[in-house]
Amino acid sequence: MKVAVVGATGEVGRMMLRCLVEEDIPVTELRLFASSRSAGTELEWKGKKHSVELLTEDSMRETYDYLLFSAGGTTSGKYAPIAAAAGNTIIDNSSRWRQEKNIPLVVPEINASVLQHYKGIISNPNCSTIQMVLALAPLHKLFQLRKVIVSTYQSVSGSGYKGIAIMESQRMGGADRGLYPRMIDKNVIPQIGDFEENGYCNEENKMRFETNKILGSEEILVSATTVRVPVMYGHSESVYAEFAQPVEMDKAVEALKNSQSVVFWPTEYITPLELGESNDSHVCRLRYGVDNHSVAFWNVGNNVRLGAATNAVRIMKWLIENR
Ligand code: A2P
Repeated sequence: MKVAVVGATGEVGRMMLRCLVEEDIPVTELRLFASSRSAGTELEWKGKKHSVELLTEDSMRETYDYLLFSAGGTTSGKYAPIAAAAGNTIIDNSSRWRQEKNIPLVVPEINASVLQHYKGIISNPNCSTIQMVLALAPLHKLFQLRKVIVSTYQSVSGSGYKGIAIMESQRMGGADRGLYPRMIDKNVIPQIGDFEENGYCNEENKMRFETNKILGSEEILVSATTVRVPVMYGHSESVYAEFAQPVEMDKAVEALKNSQSVVFWPTEYITPLELGESNDSHVCRLRYGVDNHSVAFWNVGNNVRLGAATNAVRIMKWLIENR
């Protein structure tokens, strides 16, 4: 199988390379692309050195079995359509295509069926959305989700290697804010992405739109407050959810325990530092909300894995196994 990773030198791109091995994707030819900044460098994969190529239009006109993109929205906007026009399947981690009506936005455990007979660009959802909808989907199935109020605690690796580098430099005493609107070390910043007309920032609006699209219902109301915190890896979320039907707690617990890619913690809670290399969405502190139509829980996921690379490679795996 001929596979390309575009943005292979980035945080997510490197993790995609690990996930290809972990998920046993039968890669026979691997091509790695990045910008001129790192073209010509080498990355090791399965004990062999692979050189990183400069991303060009011509390279995207070749035939691949799959292309994984994680090189930002602008790069994806330019190059993914070229690869798609050549008949390729692209799984794109950027936000560039997520709102397009005809482009599937997929968490395979929830809505992989939209991929049947589909070829072209497939969108990988936002990191904070993926871990939350994995936890909400089984509850939605049972009790019909109506409203979600969520506050996030998102790690700097969600901003790619630049986020990690700037926090490390601030920890060494640097005062450069880098890509963040305020200092991030020893601080929390209630803004991720630009503010939009409705008073929410871009990440918050992404969570609302993407939750509706993945769960297939525009009737679910979502209000998010997304916050960057000085954590290296792992996003946490405080989720409050309301349902049309009364929630039967024992059924909710059973459904979460049996859900694919969800780990339910009945008594303990988990923090980002304890996640390690987990590819699951962790649900703990589950309790009733204001009444028996609502619940509250704490949700933790590895944003580079579950929130990005793992989900993308799981989409690829689903396609390999189902078509
Ligand atoms: P490069 O290493 O050459 O900068 P992250 O998500 O960690 O910020 O990484 C972004 C990834 O996207 C990197 O691999 C980066 O490559 C790649 N990238 C950024 N801009 C471009 C571009 N214009 N063309 C190709 N790759 C790009």
